[in-house]
Amino acid sequence: MIVCSCNVLSDGAVRACLSGSPTGPRTPAQVYACLGCSPKCGRCARTIRSIMRVALDRVAHSCTAACTSTCSAVKAQKAEGEIAA
Ligand code: FES
Repeated sequence: MIVCSCNVLSDGAVRACLSGSPTGPRTPAQVYACLGCSPKCGRCARTIRSIMRVALDRVAHSCTAACTSTCSAVKAQKAEGEIAA
């Protein structure tokens, strides 16, 4: 499904950009940069943020107790107030 009509970005492309690296994009702007484009109208930012939230939740829930203190995904969620600091 296309989530950004200005840049023709699919939800799969956004997810692919987010997975595989704990130091991957943590903001919609970083997702655009990762995919080699930049925001135009911004209508898709909420959708991209939602895809990111789900992806980060999956990462956080797959973490072991040993990595949570150093995990950048958990740190990002704490910074955004999504989980308790
Ligand atoms: S729909 Fe993504 S920038 Fe316009």
